[in-house]
Amino acid sequence: MSILIKNGRIITATDDYVADVFIDGETVSMIGKNLPVKADRTIDASNRLVIPGSIDPHVHMQLPFGGTISSDDFKSGTIAAAFGGTTTIIDFAIQYHGKTFAQTLDDWDAKAEGKCAIDYSYHLAVTEYEDKHKSEFKKVVDRGITTFKIFLAYPGVFMIDDQTMFRVMQSAGEVGGMTLVHAENGIAIQQMIEQLVAQKKLAPKYHAESRPPTMQADGVARALRVGEVAGAPVFIVHVSCEAAMKEIVRSRDEGHASFGETCTQYLFLDQTCYDKPNFEGAKYVFTPPLVPKENIEPLWKGLKLGYLQEVSTDHCPFMFKGQKDLGKDDFRKIPNGGPGVEDRLSMVYHGGVIERGFSLNKWVDICCTASAKMFGMFPKKGTIAVGSDADIVIYDPNKERTVSAKTHHMNCDYSLFEGMKIKGYPETVLSRGKVIIENNQYKGTPGEGKFIKRGECLPL
Ligand code: URP
Ligand code: ZN
Ligand code: ZN
Repeated sequence: MSILIKNGRIITATDDYVADVFIDGETVSMIGKNLPVKADRTIDASNRLVIPGSIDPHVHMQLPFGGTISSDDFKSGTIAAAFGGTTTIIDFAIQYHGKTFAQTLDDWDAKAEGKCAIDYSYHLAVTEYEDKHKSEFKKVVDRGITTFKIFLAYPGVFMIDDQTMFRVMQSAGEVGGMTLVHAENGIAIQQMIEQLVAQKKLAPKYHAESRPPTMQADGVARALRVGEVAGAPVFIVHVSCEAAMKEIVRSRDEGHASFGETCTQYLFLDQTCYDKPNFEGAKYVFTPPLVPKENIEPLWKGLKLGYLQEVSTDHCPFMFKGQKDLGKDDFRKIPNGGPGVEDRLSMVYHGGVIERGFSLNKWVDICCTASAKMFGMFPKKGTIAVGSDADIVIYDPNKERTVSAKTHHMNCDYSLFEGMKIKGYPETVLSRGKVIIENNQYKGTPGEGKFIKRGECLPL
């Protein structure tokens, strides 16, 4: 099957020009003006942006967490991602105690294989490191997984101690890998939670009160300092506040391979969401929580200036009715996480390009290209070039719409951005040369998404 995309405005992280794209099979085979080729199908992309399929490097499909399971599985979640213009996701394969790394990855393969609508990979989340695990790092990298993840939060569940943090960072670095960190001061937070509970402060807003931005900045500083000593690259996930971002800037400025991301929700929402009536604050119970509004502009600025590398979603949805309400009487029982995989590309276009004057190149960089580079998939993914996978989004830059759970495809009964009016829409989406979204319909077959073997991370 060959496809010719004609007359679109091609935007990559560096280029901006009008041309045709010829796709032969799964890859881009020619780019040029008025290409003299015949294709099985021609798509007119006049007045449209033609961008690389976007990458969401932080999602949790079907994750057992907080006594329940996140409500999108690899099928529903990747179809929703495709509707949003995302053509590659990276999930987190989490090592449960007693499991080897290989068993952990096998378990995640079993969940994802044959279900995905788009391409996928995982980071390996290490929760236990004994001597026997050391030799496994190389095997994980050989399997195409070049990123490891640790949690400095959730004591008794996923949290590791500082010795393990050092060992994971060092071992990952030795095999050419990078360590991702959920960075908070999990122990101090636990103490604050206990104090709030003792005072009978049990409403959703106390989730945020127990995890102030300084406790995130503290975790980030500690993770980066340990990474500096281990001599290994560190990437901080879901940065939600300026204080944490500043720690990354400090470390990189001193010459260390220290990087970070933020997530869509932190670019639009603030902690006043927890004051919503009728338990609605629970919709925003994720970790780290929303923070005071004055953090929002610094995060946008951080993206613009490259302090942070990309925007992910931390997509980890739970139904408001039936899951979030497990914590109706106690915020500790509200499963942590929210929906977002479908919203990211459009929300960042609206908030970045339309509202703040970001260049289209910057938008593509922070939603598509930087993640391909950071996580070892460039130039197969993350750009439009001869030889790259034909993961392409034909984007209507002017269409206006209202974000709503009534129209989204995520398996979640609410939207974090309900009612927001935004401009821009991923009209047609191709995954490795196949049109999978068109006319607001999914045209693919679940299972067509492939596991992507990732290579060396190329920090920017
Ligand atoms: O609340 C969140 N973020 N849930 C998913 C797990 C994590 O910490 O990333
Ligand atoms: Zn996390
Ligand atoms: Zn996460």
